[in-house]
Amino acid sequence: MTYTSSTVRVPDVAAVPRHIAIIMDGNGRWATQRRLPRVAGHTRGVDAVRATVESCARRGVEYVTLFAFSSENWRRPTEEVSFLMRLFVTALEREIGKLHANGIRLRVVGDISMFDERIRALIQRAETKTARNTRLTLTIAANYGGRWDIMQATRKLAEQSVEEGQAVVVDEASFAQHLAMAYAPEPDLFIRTGGEQRISNFLLWQLAYTEFYFTDTYWPDFDADALGRAIESYGERERRFGRTSAQLAPQSQKVDTLSC
Ligand code: IPE
Ligand code: IPE
Ligand code: MG
Repeated sequence: MTYTSSTVRVPDVAAVPRHIAIIMDGNGRWATQRRLPRVAGHTRGVDAVRATVESCARRGVEYVTLFAFSSENWRRPTEEVSFLMRLFVTALEREIGKLHANGIRLRVVGDISMFDERIRALIQRAETKTARNTRLTLTIAANYGGRWDIMQATRKLAEQSVEEGQAVVVDEASFAQHLAMAYAPEPDLFIRTGGEQRISNFLLWQLAYTEFYFTDTYWPDFDADALGRAIESYGERERRFGRTSAQLAPQSQKVDTLSC
């Protein structure tokens, strides 16, 4: 079990984030600005996904989680939703061989019971094919909602109690092992492109101590340089996890402070 809670234990922190979670926003506005249909932005967004995953792998990031379709995105016009489904299928079919060749493990999280059988089978094949890869885990959040995740984990705990005939222990660890991304550490860095500064029901539980980075850049324009700037900003943050700055200072500085 990889899950470690940042509110229970102070996690190890490195200059390169171990896990980056991204809300890829601004596809529609990118297209509208160019007098193109909104969906043209989604198509271009796939290129940005490829560039971001490649760049993260090169930098040694271990987990990349991308919000592709939220549980609220069903509210969009039917044609846009259908286009996004088709794009998901073609992108997955086209990219899976390359992802596998590059040592990338693919996982999909979200309520995929809402997707048609063909998409579910494709997801299953892609996950199985890449299951043993260890260089980077790419998670696509599809029909994902942070509240859905918390609810389905809670339901599993309740079912476990019924099966065992007694109330199971409910604590952070027992709860979190039922979350959709129990295989990954909590994100170190959260990036949202497109200028909005909100979580939009993404990883509600797991973002407890994540560093946030917002950029006005629309997702189709997000490239290796833009990712570099986000990681650079992350490198300048002081992750205190509740402690004071002085507690984080190197030992020698601490002694100096005490002797003053
Ligand atoms: C993000 O871009 C992609 C999805 C939500 C699928 P948007 O489609 O939300 O683009 P904007 O925010 O309307 O520009
Ligand atoms: C969040 O973007 C979901 C994805 C990127 C998949 P939205 O564009 O749907 O978010 P809101 O509705 O503006 O908050
Ligand atoms: Mg949007």
